[in-house]
Amino acid sequence: MPTRIIKADQSDPSPESVAAGSDIIRRGGLVVFPTETVYGLGADALNTEACSGIYRAKGRPSDNPLIVHVCSMEMLSAVAADIPESLAEKLKYLWPGPLTLILRKSSAIPGRVTGGSDFVAVRMPDCRLALELIRVSGVPIAAPSANISGKPSIVNGLDAARYLDGKVDLIYDAGNTRYGLESTILDLSGKSPVLLRPGSYSVEFLERYFGRIILPETLDISERKNIPITPGTRYRHYSPDKPLYLVDDPVLLENIAMGKYGMNAAVIAPDDLCRISRIPCISIGSGSDLDVVASMLFQALDSVDRVSADVAFAPTFPSHGIGLAIMNRMVKASVATLSDEKQVMVAIGGKNPSSQSGGNVG
Ligand code: TXA
Ligand code: MG
Repeated sequence: MPTRIIKADQSDPSPESVAAGSDIIRRGGLVVFPTETVYGLGADALNTEACSGIYRAKGRPSDNPLIVHVCSMEMLSAVAADIPESLAEKLKYLWPGPLTLILRKSSAIPGRVTGGSDFVAVRMPDCRLALELIRVSGVPIAAPSANISGKPSIVNGLDAARYLDGKVDLIYDAGNTRYGLESTILDLSGKSPVLLRPGSYSVEFLERYFGRIILPETLDISERKNIPITPGTRYRHYSPDKPLYLVDDPVLLENIAMGKYGMNAAVIAPDDLCRISRIPCISIGSGSDLDVVASMLFQALDSVDRVSADVAFAPTFPSHGIGLAIMNRMVKASVATLSDEKQVMVAIGGKNPSSQSGGNVG
């Protein structure tokens, strides 16, 4: 299909740019639009056939459910059932914002959207263009992240065009998203809130509203076990085609960047190291501001396959606050975490590290 790419202002979209997308949504087509987290690949959430198109365009496994985006509390009531007054009160402070909730679905939401489950993932994005698109379309919009399944999420419309041109009806070219990492997913279907995916709202921040949030053990990145939490996590995620290794020792990463173990590698690293690196270096900002690291991470992962190198290495970050979401994505994108020279040399030689059992391999 021919894809229209139109420029739009995320925070002050013209009525014409909004109408271009809403016409397509109403006709059952596919629109790639920005949110405050990452770009979404959207369709009318009430239209089963349109939602099937999302799975085809993304190459997404059909049992991996979609997030439904709403623009108002009235629309939330049409999507989800039994919303307690206490939750509506909290959402006054948290929505629009990077928080997805798992709630009991209403009968309006087709099983195609929820993977057959009685529970729906729903959020109100904090992006004027997204909110206007939903409002003018007059329907909730189902949208996963606008990447090809398994690849890093997309934070810029022109990056989306590289992968989805010809597969969707319209792509908004509206610059980079504000956060750069997906929303935090909180399951409210049981007695206590459970974190299904760390994201742009930190757990520490959300606990001020929800009290203690249960973190599945599988989020402990030191264990390196990617056991499924939410359906999507069963699949390979965020991965470049080239092997990416995390390096938990900054001195070791610096030695890699200086070419000590060979030159056919690339590094993802802070600016200071990129300035002196003798191998291709993909910047993630100063490295000390984790909000900046979060906003640059997906483009850095996406660049790994375009630099001239056979293998790439990246640093680790403290896994609290936004660091928990950063490390969650980096662990899923990587093959293993390396801690010593021997493992690095084997990785650069193109073989698997021999000491995998001792090397925190996931
Ligand atoms: O920030 C975001 O959340 C972005 C923007 C576009 O809103 N969306 C996004 O969608 O990241 P996606 O599909 O890439 O990730 C949503 C995750 C998937 O892992 C999916 O399995 C899970 O949410 N999910 C969706 N519906 C669910 C449900 N009913 N129960 C449990 N998990 C669900
Ligand atoms: Mg995704």
